[in-house]
Amino acid sequence: MPSVGRLHYLEEPARGSGRPRGTLVLIHGFPFSARMWEPQRALADGGWRVIAPELRGFGDGASGPPGTSVDDYAGDVIDLLDALHVEEAVIGGLSMGGYVTLAVFRHAPRYFQGMVLADTRSQADTPEAVEGRKRMIQLVRDRGVAAVTDEMMPKLLSEATAKEQPEVVKQLRALMLSSSTDAVAGALTALMTRPDATPVLPTIHCPTLILVGEADAITPPALSEEMHRRIAGSTLVIIPRAGHVASLEQPTAFNQALAGFLAHRV
Ligand code: MLT
Repeated sequence: MPSVGRLHYLEEPARGSGRPRGTLVLIHGFPFSARMWEPQRALADGGWRVIAPELRGFGDGASGPPGTSVDDYAGDVIDLLDALHVEEAVIGGLSMGGYVTLAVFRHAPRYFQGMVLADTRSQADTPEAVEGRKRMIQLVRDRGVAAVTDEMMPKLLSEATAKEQPEVVKQLRALMLSSSTDAVAGALTALMTRPDATPVLPTIHCPTLILVGEADAITPPALSEEMHRRIAGSTLVIIPRAGHVASLEQPTAFNQALAGFLAHRV
């Protein structure tokens, strides 16, 4: 995996004969890694350079202090764009990657040529959710990442995926197990302290695509519908048969929606 300094990322160069259309930045969810975006490398066929940052401590990410706020991760994404001399990009992410996308926008809206919010929400954690995060921090400290994986797995995928796509179940489990205990505990702190990004939504004026699995049990479609109402001119696509990890569960439908957005809306 290439890196600039401590920042690691996956990269797929733009393909095609013409001038590259631009850069697509995809930020991974919790507790996955940049490799969750393997199926989206194909979007390079549309002339887009695809970059997937590895958030601190996840996957192959450089060691060092883990992130403990969405602003830590957002700062790293901005540093990566600067290091790669990317002045403008379509920036998006899935779930926690969406929270980080909104944090990048809060700090530096000038980088946004477009935005992609997949299986995510704008609201902060509720008090009950914060209690759940604290229990998970204890769990990962006491019993490791495998225990967190076991706890999360049943909620992540649609029933259809769990039954019909054992290879996706295996792939997701492996992605989760590649995370370090410190990265997971740090990210849980980042998740439970993230600010409410709802007030930011009406200030988003770049082309925006909102995607969600129809059976997403963690960030259900109603939350995406709400973001769609608050972001003027945004496009909402609901992915059939997918749960919370729509990009991996139904990559063809996910990529079709994203490729159409990149070709016609950005
Ligand atoms: C994720 O997929 O990034 C997490 O489920 C986000 C969350 O727990 O809020």
